[in-house]
Amino acid sequence: MRALARPRTEAAMAVEGRGLAAGYGSLSVLADCDIEIAAGSLTALVGPNGAGKSTLLKLVTGALVPWRGTLSVFGGAVAQARRAGEIAYMPQHEAIDWDYPLTVRDVVRLGRLPAIRARGGWRAWLPMSVQPGADTEAALGALDAVGLAGLAHRPIGALSGGQKKRALLARALVQGARLMLLDEPLAGVDRDSEAVIRRLLIEARAAGRTVVMVTHDLDGTRGFADRVLLIRGRVVAAGTPEEVLGVTPPDPVAAALARTGG
Ligand SMILES: Nc1ncnc2c1ncn2[C@@H]1O[C@H](COP(=O)(O)OP(=O)(O)OP(=O)(O)O)[C@@H](O)[C@H]1O
Ligand SMILES: [Mg+2]
Repeated sequence: MRALARPRTEAAMAVEGRGLAAGYGSLSVLADCDIEIAAGSLTALVGPNGAGKSTLLKLVTGALVPWRGTLSVFGGAVAQARRAGEIAYMPQHEAIDWDYPLTVRDVVRLGRLPAIRARGGWRAWLPMSVQPGADTEAALGALDAVGLAGLAHRPIGALSGGQKKRALLARALVQGARLMLLDEPLAGVDRDSEAVIRRLLIEARAAGRTVVMVTHDLDGTRGFADRVLLIRGRVVAAGTPEEVLGVTPPDPVAAALARTGG
């Protein structure tokens, strides 16, 4: 992979990919994929199961290396953005061992690690528990924002599925990264939690962050996302929610129900 040259401090594009191809072993998932995500925008990635949405996010985090093509984050190499703690990532399937004896606060505080490492010096390598109180305060603030302040000292494994999602969102928020990549943050959460998460993402965008979110709720992108990218092995459509919903075939079940007045 070649990184795009000319790193810029005020890059207009948060993510810029050209001719990307990627997959696993002999399985090709993305081919000839171009992608542009403007800095400071809120973008929704939509598409059917197996279309390559999570794979695309993994490329942008640097967890997966493209077979072909070029990819840059804020005008520089992905690895550089990752090292600088500029990328926060909430995976779809969290690799955390939920039985591990970590409290909710501990898990959220881990989001501060890139900032702590960036401060440098020998203190950066001390355990989280003896890092300055400001990092813990930030973690508690993020837990408060997602409505989990009361559960900070609970073992992470003792949370419900929706509460775990909110804890992982708090971890992504507390990192303070310029680019937030969230893989299905709204899946499996109740209506109240969904409203909280949507508000936090809008606030993050208002604070100048770039938010990229995978969702299956196409209608929910209206009045929320600036742009929608429809993924099917590559970006097959891109535009405002209205533009992209216009090219998406209507849901046949919903159409049948509408016809029968159901
Ligand atoms: N670690 C892996 N090893 C092998 N194949 C994988 C791996 N991860 C994903 N795949 C395959 O790659 C393809 C794309 O997967 P991906 O997770 O990117 O899809 P997705 O668009 O996120 O789907 P979903 O909506 O179900 O989350 C699928 O066929 C999937 O089975
Ligand atoms: Mg996925």
